[in-house]
Amino acid sequence: MEKLTGELKILSEEEKEGLDLARISEDEKAEGKRKLYIESYGCQMNFSDSEIVASILRKEGFATTSNKDEAELILLNTCSIRDNAEQKVRNRLQILNSTKKGKPNVKIGVLGCMAERLKTKLLEEEKMVDMVVGPDSYRDLPNLISDVEDGQKAVNVFLSREETYADITPVRLGTNGVTAFISIMRGCDNMCSFCVVPYTRGRERSREPKTIVQEAQNLFDKGYREVTLLGQNVDSFKWKNENGEIETNFAQLLEMVAQVHPDLRVRFSTSHPKDITDDVLYTIKKYENICNYIHLPAQSGSSRILELMNRTYDREWYIQKIDRIREILGEDCAISHDLITGFCTETEEDHEETLSLMDYVQFDYGYMFYYSERPGTPAAKKLEDDIDLETKKRRLAEIIEKQRGHSMIRNERLLGTVQKALVEGFSKRSEDFLQGRIDDNKVVIFPKENFKKGEYVYVKIEECTTATLKGTAVITEMA
Ligand code: SAH
Ligand code: SF4
Ligand code: F3S
Repeated sequence: MEKLTGELKILSEEEKEGLDLARISEDEKAEGKRKLYIESYGCQMNFSDSEIVASILRKEGFATTSNKDEAELILLNTCSIRDNAEQKVRNRLQILNSTKKGKPNVKIGVLGCMAERLKTKLLEEEKMVDMVVGPDSYRDLPNLISDVEDGQKAVNVFLSREETYADITPVRLGTNGVTAFISIMRGCDNMCSFCVVPYTRGRERSREPKTIVQEAQNLFDKGYREVTLLGQNVDSFKWKNENGEIETNFAQLLEMVAQVHPDLRVRFSTSHPKDITDDVLYTIKKYENICNYIHLPAQSGSSRILELMNRTYDREWYIQKIDRIREILGEDCAISHDLITGFCTETEEDHEETLSLMDYVQFDYGYMFYYSERPGTPAAKKLEDDIDLETKKRRLAEIIEKQRGHSMIRNERLLGTVQKALVEGFSKRSEDFLQGRIDDNKVVIFPKENFKKGEYVYVKIEECTTATLKGTAVITEMA
């Protein structure tokens, strides 16, 4: 197997919310090539895009490095989802400015959602930046880089209705060689009032299914054993034929990817409660290798707040979806959430409704945030950001606390059971232990014995914390 990457490095541990970690490009062994350093912030879509960028630039003679001090080209792939995500990038740019001092050939580019949101303003505000490139303009990078090398500043923030980078084979960055992401669509056509993504990522468009299946097949052939299909709203995936009729929907795509190989696990993210269908749930049930795990962001438990958020479903609809998941897939299917506290006008009663929704569902885990007003969004234009920071944070602490309890309950359910885990590598603490992931996406740690990365191992679950399971391997082959 081609060895381009090793373990991913985590730059900032301060927010363990899954969205604000930075990923750094890996050392690619390539003598004499120009060095490219990429740091990626935000969601999995961004991490996946950085792999496309690395692929485009490899053809231009660049090799990736994990050391910014030896790089000729430094790229930050940025996120705008909350104010603190942008502040992190601004702080990082200050540090990079000193890296650049005295090295006139070192160029800095800002890619991704912040580039798209701020456009040329970013060049005015951050003088060390040479290049601003939006998420649909990565094919133009070679031209933009050559402009920069000619001493100009370069900007391309054109948003496309068609671009899916379907033909570009990503250079895998920071993967363990076992699990990989595949982007199946780009953009978002929902208009959740708090959210900047429709402005930074443009209109929703789906990628041609056969290119997705091919990518999954190639990954399997290289030894990967798990793919996660990515989109802001995967349930609205649709590939149309020439007559404009829907040829492939998400349930069908899932089935096509599941058929690549029974040993290739399939995951997907993110599902929108308004769009997830019974067909999708039945497809998950039909294939053993489609994982029993659904990330179903709720955002709030109050129908009044959901309406102001323009989520287009209410509390009852959300509960009905949860009931359907449990009816079709059973209690074992893990469900996670995203929740926002302190959205405009949120009262204590609204907050109580969020807490009671959590009690109803007992989510396996979740990503929780306090509301951060984003300039230009419908909420910023029409609603007042009227909940004080202290209240937002207090409510956030309350939902986090509740989630801890539920995560513990959900993990304890698994004590004494045997779960099929896919080995992802060594445990973070010790090389005597391996880290694997079970079907429902939970991490399990167990003694290494003779097992290897990429193998499936049956593990008996013996202990747990709110975040991790611990156990011992029992059998390795299915009867
Ligand atoms: N497409 C996904 C979400 C992508 S953004 C979906 O619709 O579920 C990831 C999460 O960030 C969101 O689910 C939301 O909980 C959070 N988020 C988005 N905008 C935010 C804002 N302005 N303030 C706080 N959290 C926000
Ligand atoms: Fe944002 Fe809503 Fe689209 Fe998710 S579905 S990316 S929250 S607008
Ligand atoms: Fe952030 Fe853009 Fe993803 S705003 S969460 S990087 S789509």
